[in-house]
Amino acid sequence: FTGNAAEGEKVFVQCKTCHVKEAGQNRVGPSLAGIVGRAAGSVEGFNYSPANKNSGITWTPEKLFQYLEKPARVVPGTKMVFAGLPDAQKRADLIAYLQQP
Ligand code: HEM
Repeated sequence: FTGNAAEGEKVFVQCKTCHVKEAGQNRVGPSLAGIVGRAAGSVEGFNYSPANKNSGITWTPEKLFQYLEKPARVVPGTKMVFAGLPDAQKRADLIAYLQQP
């Protein structure tokens, strides 16, 4: 899949109540700086659920694409209260945005 980062920035508005894309700031959710390629549950100082922490996931673009459709299906027991993004293009755009430094 191919995404458009500028479009993804608009989709990210839905994530902003809980996440920032910059490093060093955790809100309700952990900072998403460098999320693409990172091991799940690895932001220092963030209190993850055991489900997320011990998922063994590496957040590749493909894994994020699956997760963001329906987070609780990929990480059962996650404390991320977000239903998901059914629109595949929006997920692809969002991942392109998250991949930007
Ligand atoms: C965890 C992405 C929306 C709260 C995560 C993780 C990702 C992610 C990739 C795993 C992080 C890691 O393992 O380090 C997103 C994206 C969103 C979104 C792209 C928008 C489309 C939200 C919203 C909330 C939220 C709206 C709050 C209502 C959380 C929490 C966790 C989390 C609390 C930790 C989950 C746990 O420890 O079980 N998110 N998220 N997220 N997110 Fe989100």
